[in-house]
Amino acid sequence: MTYIHFIVLDVIFFNILHAHAFVGSQFAQNISPGTRIFASIEEPEVILSEHVVSLRKPMGIILEGDESNLAAGVFVKRMDPQGQTAAACRSDPSGFDICIRDKVMFVNGVDVSQDSLESIMELIIDGPNTVEIVLGRPSDAAVVRWTNGISIAAKPGDSFGCIARHEALIKIPYSCASGACGTCEQSISSEDEEFRQYIRPCVARVPGGVPIIIVNPSDRFGTPLP
Ligand code: FES
Repeated sequence: MTYIHFIVLDVIFFNILHAHAFVGSQFAQNISPGTRIFASIEEPEVILSEHVVSLRKPMGIILEGDESNLAAGVFVKRMDPQGQTAAACRSDPSGFDICIRDKVMFVNGVDVSQDSLESIMELIIDGPNTVEIVLGRPSDAAVVRWTNGISIAAKPGDSFGCIARHEALIKIPYSCASGACGTCEQSISSEDEEFRQYIRPCVARVPGGVPIIIVNPSDRFGTPLP
């Protein structure tokens, strides 16, 4: 999927906050998260499960959309590890359920699932200081939570090393890069207490059938992550 347009929300909110006084307000009450079928050019039919997050501005996230394919929608592309959203996710991971790759479905009660990035930005900028967003996530995604608060809605089979470096913005130290030495080793757990494994991200892939994967430092080898 090739995206050609993205906007850093922090920068925009910083500027706008100097021009307008945002006040709190009631959100529209017609948000009804559930599941829906979402079609795009690349993936003709994906079932998205929806969930709601309330994020304060500046949110510290980057959204991205493709102007040439508005029907594909707008997605969460990046999260600032130092931003408010990542901090909230660190302190309350289940309360702030937002992942890189989530699709923006509603903003403050307005269906934006096939809107342009610009129109979504207008809604956010002109709205109250706390933004209520319904996010859609493929129902077969594995949420991989990293130690810096950033989570990725990964596909089973994705490389742990690639999503750590390019999406969670975590640099894992490597040595052999072939799974042999243990330098990069971490452990993973899940909400199921019986699920606990060691992974070597240089070679490890996201397993299927585990909805939430929490990355922790290994107690054997490896280097603790930030
Ligand atoms: S770098 Fe050696 S096991 Fe990953």
